[in-house]
Amino acid sequence: MRKPVIAGNWKMYKTVRETKAFFTKLAPLVAGAEHAEMVVCPPFVNVAIAVESAKSTNIEIGAQDVFWVKEGAYTGEISAPMLSAAGCRWVIVGHSERRRYFGETEEAVFKKTVAALDAGLKPIVCVGERLEQRESGATEAVLAEQFAGGLAPLTPEQFVRVSIAYEPVWAIGTGKTATPGTAAQAHGFLRSRIRDRFGAQVAGACRILYGGSVKPDNIKALMAQPELDGALVGGASLDPASFAAIVSYPVGAT
Ligand code: PGA
Repeated sequence: MRKPVIAGNWKMYKTVRETKAFFTKLAPLVAGAEHAEMVVCPPFVNVAIAVESAKSTNIEIGAQDVFWVKEGAYTGEISAPMLSAAGCRWVIVGHSERRRYFGETEEAVFKKTVAALDAGLKPIVCVGERLEQRESGATEAVLAEQFAGGLAPLTPEQFVRVSIAYEPVWAIGTGKTATPGTAAQAHGFLRSRIRDRFGAQVAGACRILYGGSVKPDNIKALMAQPELDGALVGGASLDPASFAAIVSYPVGAT
């Protein structure tokens, strides 16, 4: 059984004060939740207050990016050991916004993933096709390429500590969720690549999250797909009530 992960990606939202207020509201709403691991990924400057605010709760903190060198003259960058020392347990790697706006390549995704693992962080590595790629029938080719460049070069010992987020770019922030069936198909394809590279046991244990306009009203249908092992949630993770409602998807299942 794969334990689901519900992770919030705040992107470039919230101040220190807003971060503190968020956890004050969220913690009691999700206090009893044990069916899934919960992760919140605030901007770097809010990691310390998020870690402090989530102390003695069932919520873990992650970062949204990481650089692959441990320390050095890299103005503006943050290393994996720094994140780990600050109390982060997770880190998002290769988000499509980083690929698009900051030119992140498969090689960078690979190096960042290795750096995160070396520091004891759990990477959530994002993959996913753009709209024109889906429309031209290239979805699987794109996923295969992203897997081959960013993930396949890992050793099996490294790969077992990685989660993947399938995030079709056309579904991110657009309100256009992939249908549960479309998402499951992509997850199944990714799992077949993992099987080919790392074997059936590793493939069966790997958690593949879905991301792209996940909301309280579509999470249940998405999670009803056995291929989906959780969600990476952007916009709907900013409000404690809506994030809690997403986490609570099994409640009231019909
Ligand atoms: P969204 O973002 O939920 O706002 O679509 C998801 C993401 O980018 O991880």
